[in-house]
Amino acid sequence: MEFFGQESIVSFSPLIIKGKKIDVPIVQGGMGVGISLSPLASAVAREGGLGIISSAGLDRLVSKRNEKRVNCYEAAYEEVSLAKESGGRVGINVMVALVRDYEDSVRGALDAGADVIISGAGLPLGLPLIHPPGETALIPIVSSARALEIICKKWERLHYRPDAVVLEGPLAGGHLGFKAGEIGLESNKLENLLPPVKDIAMKHGDFPVIVAGGIYSHADIEKFLAMGASGVQMGTRFLATEESSASSEYKQAVVNSKEEDIIVADDPGSPCGMPFRVIRQSPMFVSALNRLRAPKCDKGYVLLKDSQGGFTRCPAKENNENYFCICNGLLSSAGYGSQKEEPLFTIGTNAYKINNILSVHALMDELKN
Ligand SMILES: Cc1cc2nc3c(=O)[nH]c(=O)nc-3n(C[C@H](O)[C@H](O)[C@H](O)COP(=O)(O)O)c2cc1C
Repeated sequence: MEFFGQESIVSFSPLIIKGKKIDVPIVQGGMGVGISLSPLASAVAREGGLGIISSAGLDRLVSKRNEKRVNCYEAAYEEVSLAKESGGRVGINVMVALVRDYEDSVRGALDAGADVIISGAGLPLGLPLIHPPGETALIPIVSSARALEIICKKWERLHYRPDAVVLEGPLAGGHLGFKAGEIGLESNKLENLLPPVKDIAMKHGDFPVIVAGGIYSHADIEKFLAMGASGVQMGTRFLATEESSASSEYKQAVVNSKEEDIIVADDPGSPCGMPFRVIRQSPMFVSALNRLRAPKCDKGYVLLKDSQGGFTRCPAKENNENYFCICNGLLSSAGYGSQKEEPLFTIGTNAYKINNILSVHALMDELKN
């Protein structure tokens, strides 16, 4: 529709989660390691969106910044508090797969008054039990209606129900919640995953569904809101902003990327066994592909179950044939770690469309209007 020579502005309805109003229904996705920290989250919050910190490796990053050792609880507390200083809505993303740090990160964020805790990379079945959430909304991330149903049933037994859910489809950046062979299935398109997930959300109390994965433009947001989503979560577009803590090399790799450069890494792949989307020119991926990567993981944030059922194994420590080291690779991509660690760039499918680095203000303006 034209109005005085300009396209009319379609304004989105706010996103309401646990009674809290988020003026612009855009959630900036948590991006670890060290990409979405307080500068990015607070900038998004100031623009009326929901800014999300990533808890991955946060103890290391905050310790380095403060030149004083802090633990996971203290790091989450400090980063959420900093992000909240300039107002707006702020939360944290805590991955279930980071078993060792999970509960402390949740407690730190709750004590700092995070508006939301978003949790995926595994089913956050015990999240409501860790500490009474008070005003903080608890939001699982799922990639299927089945996963959401399992979480709802489990949480009901704990007398809690999700305050919202993030439904992440196969076009997202980072780890994907699909097996390699399922990524391209028609039935796994975000458009097709949304209706059954909406049905489960309706059945268990009609909480908001936030969709993620491949959402790039104002038109994309409009489309998913029209389909019944209450909000969108976007990662890649926020990575390519001035306020994100990705290294300039990382941001430049996004600007330079072409469609065919963005691939799903499987072998060599992530030590947690889930498909992981990368820019194929990422230095650590190239080394791993050429079987040149020396196993030098000293972190072990990503732990798999051992034969006794304990989370003790990081396959990237054991073998350089089939795995790259996401801990060191992602730390390096945010400018941390020793000079020897090569960066690994993860990104969503639509990263190739990005031609320049915007301020969060300019990006939010583009997305809103
Ligand atoms: C660099 C990067 C790091 C990410 N890290 C995490 C993470 O630590 N935890 C998580 O749950 N999701 C993570 N994601 C997924 C995003 O939060 C978001 O859901 C996803 O990127 C949405 O797809 P889009 O990038 O196409 O917008 C990451 C994505 C990117 C691009």
